[in-house]
Amino acid sequence: MEHTISITEQAERKVTDTKSLPFGKIPTEHMFIAEYKNGEWQNAQVVPFHDLTLSPLALCLHYGQTVFEGMKAFVMADGKINIFRMDKHHDRFSKSLHRMCMPHVPKKLFKDAIHQLVQLDAEWVPKEEDGSLYIRPFMIATEDRIGVKVSDEFLFMVVASPAFAYYTKPLKVKVETTYVRAAAGGTGAAKCGGNYGGAFYPTQQARDAGYDQVLWTDSVHHEFIEESGTMNAMFYYDNVLVTPQTSGTILDGVTRDTLLTIAREKGIVVEERHVSYHELVKAFEEGKRIEAFGAGTAAVVAPIEIIAIGHKEYKCYVEPDAIMYQLQKALLDIRKGVEPDPHKWNYVI
Ligand SMILES: Cc1ncc(COP(=O)(O)O)c(C=O)c1O
Repeated sequence: MEHTISITEQAERKVTDTKSLPFGKIPTEHMFIAEYKNGEWQNAQVVPFHDLTLSPLALCLHYGQTVFEGMKAFVMADGKINIFRMDKHHDRFSKSLHRMCMPHVPKKLFKDAIHQLVQLDAEWVPKEEDGSLYIRPFMIATEDRIGVKVSDEFLFMVVASPAFAYYTKPLKVKVETTYVRAAAGGTGAAKCGGNYGGAFYPTQQARDAGYDQVLWTDSVHHEFIEESGTMNAMFYYDNVLVTPQTSGTILDGVTRDTLLTIAREKGIVVEERHVSYHELVKAFEEGKRIEAFGAGTAAVVAPIEIIAIGHKEYKCYVEPDAIMYQLQKALLDIRKGVEPDPHKWNYVI
């Protein structure tokens, strides 16, 4: 079904200095909102950013029927605005919605909503090298009823916020062997709110112990690396880029897919497989040069400097000639439009 998006512009639009503010704190002037009622999407609108009115009975507030995406728009070298990998983000949004019994959003509606919002708030896309506009499409269950059930009503919204460097220095992470993020058959591969709520407690404990993030391990053996915070985990040693396979318990990261594609095209051997922390310990103890990094939309590549495994801390290679920075540069060059985009990852407004 075709959807018409009505646009109401904010009378006075003001771009504040957003660089000094924490990630995600300042929304742009507008937002997109559409309602799902009686089995269809309706009232698709771009409107001035405003608070929502929700019944305290709204199902999302009680049972976590919520799904979101995170993507970015950038100013390219020629000044045009590029929204990176919209199709793949829509694919993942669709899979998450399906897993959470939430209604499909047609690809055209998803892309049009984001396009209209970014176009209208184009002044908010930072022009600085390390800047981008973080775009957050999300859906919540809004039916007002305190009863454990699949909601009949939803809101699909898109908001955006200027973003700058996510991490300012290499990370210290801790391999987590007590708590788990996801188990086989669970919702680990969906970008649903509950996965994040459940991760707070172990992550907070790691922070209290002086680490930035945890590296999750599998729920059965507490041995095989899964992912980290809001990033997929990657390792480079013995001339091989190794990353855990997408088995259903980790998020199928868009950055992960992009970096693996770039690496393969550069002739780097890529292995998607189980990565035991014992394997890492052995490699560290043999004195190998090991690169470890997180891959995700927020930071693109987040170098990991220290990995704590049990009571020992191991040091990873984070010098400027590391392969991870070459992969990151290749991604940024495609995004900026200074290198060809053979896979059509760029959506240029
Ligand atoms: C749990 C988790 N893993 C991995 C990622 C990285 O995915 P992407 O590269 O699509 O941002 C994210 C961020 O979306 C995440 O929240």
